Amino acid sequence: MAEARAQAGGVVGLVPTMGFLHEGHLSLMERSVAECDQTIATLYVNPLQFDDPADLDRYPADQDRDLALAEACGVDLMVVPRPQEMFASPPLTRVTVAGIGERLEGEFRPGHMAGVATVVTRLLAGLQPHRAYFGRKDAQQLAVITRLVQDLGFPVEVVGCSLVRESDGLALSSRNVLLGERRAEALALSRGLMRAADRFDHGEKRATVLEAAVRGAVPDGALEYARLCETSTMTRTAVAEGETVLVTAARFGPVRIIDNVGLVADRSGGSADRGVRLGHPSLIYGSEGT
Ligand code: PAF
Repeated sequence: MAEARAQAGGVVGLVPTMGFLHEGHLSLMERSVAECDQTIATLYVNPLQFDDPADLDRYPADQDRDLALAEACGVDLMVVPRPQEMFASPPLTRVTVAGIGERLEGEFRPGHMAGVATVVTRLLAGLQPHRAYFGRKDAQQLAVITRLVQDLGFPVEVVGCSLVRESDGLALSSRNVLLGERRAEALALSRGLMRAADRFDHGEKRATVLEAAVRGAVPDGALEYARLCETSTMTRTAVAEGETVLVTAARFGPVRIIDNVGLVADRSGGSADRGVRLGHPSLIYGSEGT
């Protein structure tokens, strides 16, 4: 990593990924390329953030495809660190962000958020970017990273970027390719969130009602949580005031997906941030589409 950093000059942007790139990742890369002199992307499937070994085993991968896509986006350097380059020996250190990282994903995937925070800390220390780009789909991850950067004094600007959806609403995730026939069922999560967003846009601010819109759309047993939270602290809130986010997680067979809508309320009302939609099937499905 030190070598990679030595090669990069000017304002350096970092886009950390776990590979099997989709248009969400590419939008981060494109933004970094537009805003920075040099863009470094990383591809590292971080074992520390997988609470379930089976999930790590089946995580999709195609490094050649990822390298070609990153290059086509204008990424200057793709760093694919070997495990021993990331950590000389299995790390005994964990970076935990109290509270923010312990709720939600922290409850349902013990160790996950600390695994993310630890690896991102390692990447920031090793690559010393000026700006680092993360998607808003992982709203809690973004809150955790923003806070750890602030607490540990990393001289980096954390840039949150729009969530990207398929044209039918499913939030892009590399794991979507594993949904198979359950993909249609999984659409229930984004459908519920869109209903909540519509209600918010029509003036509804009560968490009970917004959360119920999601619960009503998702089949029994699939939903892990639907919670209205304050965006920077991820604390649950009863009313959508200021910057809030309705965060959700659900399981469809062995595949767990997360999704959210940002709900920003001000004196003039409010507007839901549903992310951006592709006009075509994501490239994770190959040229045949879904
Ligand atoms: O969002 C991801 O893909 C991962 O959590 C990250 C930030 C690359 C850390 O492994």
